[in-house]
Amino acid sequence: MQEKLTRLRDERTPPKIFRELVAEIATLVLYEATADLQLAEHEVRTPLAPYTGARLAEAVGLVPVLRAGIGMVEAALELIPEAPVWHLGLFRDERTLLPISYYNKLPSSAPVQVCLVLDPMLATGGSAVATVDVLKKWGAPRIKYVGIIGAPEGVRALSSAHPDVPIHLAALDERLNEKGYIVPGLGDAGDRQFGTG
Ligand code: PRP
Ligand code: URA
Repeated sequence: MQEKLTRLRDERTPPKIFRELVAEIATLVLYEATADLQLAEHEVRTPLAPYTGARLAEAVGLVPVLRAGIGMVEAALELIPEAPVWHLGLFRDERTLLPISYYNKLPSSAPVQVCLVLDPMLATGGSAVATVDVLKKWGAPRIKYVGIIGAPEGVRALSSAHPDVPIHLAALDERLNEKGYIVPGLGDAGDRQFGTG
């Protein structure tokens, strides 16, 4: 994880490699974030004997936050291929740093037990709090936040607004700068994935 994070932060890392690293790090964080999902017994036969194994007993939905969360979707679908994906579009107003919602096509009710919010950057926490607000209003019973880098300010904001939402991150950085960017961070996660910086 440390090695991958270092390459992710490196300003010389090009978008293709950056996207690969986002996916690889997301897989590792998701391994922990999914560790307490409920299982049910599942019987199969190996070529040699019957075997009582497990299957996922909870329906899981993925909620990537546009744009940067897109890079975590494939990794999550590799782990939970049947999960529906509901994109939410939010961007931060550059002046106020407040999240502006521009895309939401959630169906009328929440047909899953667990929603995994996918967004690599937890900076002020405004986007994460707004996303969880929307999901709770929608009726999502259980929500987990899965990210890559957080600032202490963002972790505080999300955990005080939604103490029931566990936060899974690959790294907790030092602080935010005056423009609301995580330091040392990695810059703008959306721009670096999509080559738009
Ligand atoms: C980034 C990131 C988060 C948000 C975090 O998105 O993907 O959604 O900033 O910042 P916050 O914790 O202060 O709300 P951004 O607004 O840059 O949109 P983009 O991914 O479309 O570039
Ligand atoms: N969004 C990003 O992409 N990077 C930051 O450092 C903060 C918010």
